[in-house]
Amino acid sequence: ALTSELGKQIKLKEVEGTLLQLATVDNWSQIQSFEAKPDDLLICTYPKAGTTWIQEIVDMIEQNGDVEKCQRAIIQQRHPFIEWARPPQPSARNAKDCMVSYYHFQRMNHKLPDPGTWEEYFETFINGKVVWGSWFDHVKGWWEMKDRYQILFLFYEDIKRDPKHEIQKVMKFMGKNLDETVLDKIVQETSFEKMKENPMTNRSTVSKSIMDQSISPFMRKGTVGDWKNHFTVAQNERFDEIYRKKMEGTSINFCMEL
Ligand code: A3P
Repeated sequence: ALTSELGKQIKLKEVEGTLLQLATVDNWSQIQSFEAKPDDLLICTYPKAGTTWIQEIVDMIEQNGDVEKCQRAIIQQRHPFIEWARPPQPSARNAKDCMVSYYHFQRMNHKLPDPGTWEEYFETFINGKVVWGSWFDHVKGWWEMKDRYQILFLFYEDIKRDPKHEIQKVMKFMGKNLDETVLDKIVQETSFEKMKENPMTNRSTVSKSIMDQSISPFMRKGTVGDWKNHFTVAQNERFDEIYRKKMEGTSINFCMEL
């Protein structure tokens, strides 16, 4: 009974057109009225854009590269999600790789709706009917906001191409100044290979009834351009057309392959 309870899908509800967990919707006014203190740091990512990756990078910087300190708890506890509004319980990544990653995540995460076939999921995703809402709204919204507030806008693809350079940006944003050797260590420790083996980041502590990693591992591929293995030529053309319309008027430019 416990297992089936654990594996039960979370209840979802729309708020202002965005599909969210019921627990989030129930606490919406409280979440919406959140005011950051001057030294608060919020990580705002679209699902599957590399949340866990940037969380680990930020903690490694915060702890001055001390690996043991970063082992003190699983990542979900070190960086709780604000929208879950209970203890303990979001970089941008290009839309096509996010869609692929999210599809596989919904296949293995029994708390989330079954994604259906890839063709079905393609429609769900472009219509923004996934939990946490539309990729387009998320990315456009934060991109427009970035110069008005103290926001560091990061791209997954940039971290992948030149991790040291991007980690240095995060470090400066956090007001930290770490030695070259510490930086190199952080680059190494936050690599996909290391984080895939790290029980504090790879979700291996989550029960199989919730996340079945035999269906698809949480640390799945960690690459740029896996969408090419999923999108048909027709889907790709259609997607590009929709993308142009939805993203019209923004200057944002995504790297789709390395
Ligand atoms: P894939 O499914 O494409 O492999 P989130 O943490 O927001 O759920 O994002 C998960 C995605 O980030 C997964 O993508 C995962 O493999 C990738 N990821 C996690 N850690 C990473 C790392 N250190 N380097 C590159 N990609 C990483």
